[in-house]
Amino acid sequence: MLTLVTGTTGQVGRRFVPRLIAQSRAGERVRVLVRDEARGEPFAELGAEVVVGDLRDSEALGKAVAGVDAVVNVAASFRGVPDEEARAVNRDAAVELGRAALASGVQRFVQVSTGLVYGVGRGRPVTEEDESRPGGAMWGAYPESKAAAERELLALDGMDVRVARLPFVYGEGDPHLAQSLMWAGNWAATQRLHMGHHADVAQGLLRILHAPGIAGRIYNIADDAPVTAVELHQLNGVEIPEELYTRTDPDPWLVIVSTDRIRRELGYRPLYPSVYAARAAGAL
Ligand SMILES: NC(=O)c1ccc[n+]([C@@H]2O[C@H](COP(=O)([O-])OP(=O)(O)OC[C@H]3O[C@@H](n4cnc5c(N)ncnc54)[C@H](OP(=O)(O)O)[C@@H]3O)[C@@H](O)[C@H]2O)c1
Repeated sequence: MLTLVTGTTGQVGRRFVPRLIAQSRAGERVRVLVRDEARGEPFAELGAEVVVGDLRDSEALGKAVAGVDAVVNVAASFRGVPDEEARAVNRDAAVELGRAALASGVQRFVQVSTGLVYGVGRGRPVTEEDESRPGGAMWGAYPESKAAAERELLALDGMDVRVARLPFVYGEGDPHLAQSLMWAGNWAATQRLHMGHHADVAQGLLRILHAPGIAGRIYNIADDAPVTAVELHQLNGVEIPEELYTRTDPDPWLVIVSTDRIRRELGYRPLYPSVYAARAAGAL
């Protein structure tokens, strides 16, 4: 069994691949697609095959999926990129990767997506049954392109596609927790962020990849305790700006997700149920 993982030089992928390899059984192999050969070196050292290429290049896609049994598409472009690039990578290239995988006989395809696809809040934790409702403070080309990719990939006939919707991911030296203040500094004190530690995102992805009989299924991954803007400042050791207390949260359930499905169906239990558990374990 050969599994292709894209986006392995990113924050999620670089922490997921070592776990995937560490949990491989005899005969299970991993291939990574990277854009820069030198950045593939750490994965080669772990025993992965390395294919060099860009996700938007159909020739590279062909090489990447040749002989592959499963794909985990982690790659995405969303950190400060133009909308056209977000669409080209997150929607168009993801769907092309799905088509190339299907044509090459790939059995299973895990699409890594985001809880932002839900759009506006519903006054309760959103479940995988909830349709995407574009809008709200976090909507834009990124969630829109990820939502379109989900839809088009799930509609591919003849391949077992699964979708993982990730929360705000942190931990293990990822600067993301500090970066959260770029948004949280402009929030109301009570506004919450639903997060997940890298160990738990990897746990969720591995469960979604390996579980039999879940073709076409979507799973939220997150921890148990969304944190407020006040706590994000405290966690980062930053003074809480007074203005936070003058604002009102316009949508208190924005991207707060239910993890009931992944718990019940796949046995997911967060190793770090809250960011405080991760901090206490020295895992930030
Ligand atoms: N981090 C989060 O909090 C979070 C939350 C929700 C969902 N997600 C999802 O999780 C996945 C990973 O996110 P991340 O935080 O790890 O992102 P990241 O750190 O920005 O990494 C993105 C990865 O995608 C690769 N990539 C981008 N454009 C590419 C292209 N044209 N061809 C090939 N590879 C390309 C990057 O390669 P280079 O290194 O060469 O640029 C990098 O490996 C994404 O699908 C994202 O939507 C993340």
